[in-house]
Amino acid sequence: MSLLNVYSLQRRLKRKLPYVLIVLFLIFGYFGGFFSDLVSSAERDPFAELSSSTLKKILNLERENQRLRSALKRFNIAEDEYLDSTLSVIYVITPTYTRPQQKAELTRLKNIFLHIPSLHWIVVEDAEEKSILVSQFLKLSGLPYTHLNQPTPEEWKLQKTDPNWRKPRGVLQRNLGIHWLRRKFTAGNIRKGVVYFADDDNTYSIELFNEMRDTKTVSVWPVGLVGGVMVERPQISLVDYQSRYEVSGWLTGWRPDRPFATDMAGFAVNLNLLVKNPDAEFSLKSKRGFMESDFLEKITTLSELEPKADLCTKVYVWHTQTLKPDLKDEERLRKAGRSTDVGIEV
Ligand code: UGA
Ligand code: MN
Repeated sequence: MSLLNVYSLQRRLKRKLPYVLIVLFLIFGYFGGFFSDLVSSAERDPFAELSSSTLKKILNLERENQRLRSALKRFNIAEDEYLDSTLSVIYVITPTYTRPQQKAELTRLKNIFLHIPSLHWIVVEDAEEKSILVSQFLKLSGLPYTHLNQPTPEEWKLQKTDPNWRKPRGVLQRNLGIHWLRRKFTAGNIRKGVVYFADDDNTYSIELFNEMRDTKTVSVWPVGLVGGVMVERPQISLVDYQSRYEVSGWLTGWRPDRPFATDMAGFAVNLNLLVKNPDAEFSLKSKRGFMESDFLEKITTLSELEPKADLCTKVYVWHTQTLKPDLKDEERLRKAGRSTDVGIEV
């Protein structure tokens, strides 16, 4: 490099020096600030300002999170599938009513539903008003839910001494759930989904929900401990010329000649089909034991049914019924003004 070149370089640098200084100042200022922020945030304890009850809640959520992750692993559900917003939603409609064992029943359901990805629980109380118990219960459930209420008119209510079969139960409540879905999914904004009517006292297996999720019209499967027999189930036949299986009838103890001889727990309906079909609802006027059949007749045909649970060879739901609790002593204590459940929710 010649001397001339060195001089001209020096001169150019001198002219640029103020700019270089400004840039250096900005860079150091920025990083200096950044580092000092890092230091101060490392010193600051992010939990220090939280109350102990909030901390407890965070800890519990963390534990719940771990529990759910291990449940997903156990049932071979990929975590990203669990969070997948394109997964069809299972809308579960549950009628429920106030009684001593209500919270226990709802808790059994909650514990199962928490294992199911993309499930929305529609709980409809058979009551004039929403109860505090159910409201609080749902708020703390950790599930996406909708809480509705619809009382059964007095003339349709089961009296204390009535046998169960005298009047249908949960009819208007399920219909309100259906109406809610119809209002939510007015034509155009429909999403991929399936609707299942889950009474609050049955026993549901996690596998059941995987079976029903991709229901295109109406899917069906066996139900255990129902209708006076060990199991009621769809009869499956091979359609020779198409080499596919379809439902050809029903294997039940009582009235297998019903067009759809299945219990409420034995089928699920595609959301779109239900929403689009204004006739699809339950009727208080159905003949005894025909409520499900009358409903399904309005929306599908036998050959359209989709048999699930390994061609209806597996039982994933049981029509269990909880023993009415013996509260004789409670009655006595209540009369004496010494109820055991004062100030504690059971
Ligand atoms: C059987 C079927 O499994 C039900 O799906 C059907 O609704 C019922 O018969 C009927 O024939 O109406 P079962 O076990 O006898 O069921 O009925 P419950 O379990 O006592 O009641 C079904 C649902 O309705 C439950 O979720 C229950 O909580 C609810 N329910 C019951 C009310 O909302 N209000 C009531 O007064 C009684
Ligand atoms: Mn029941």
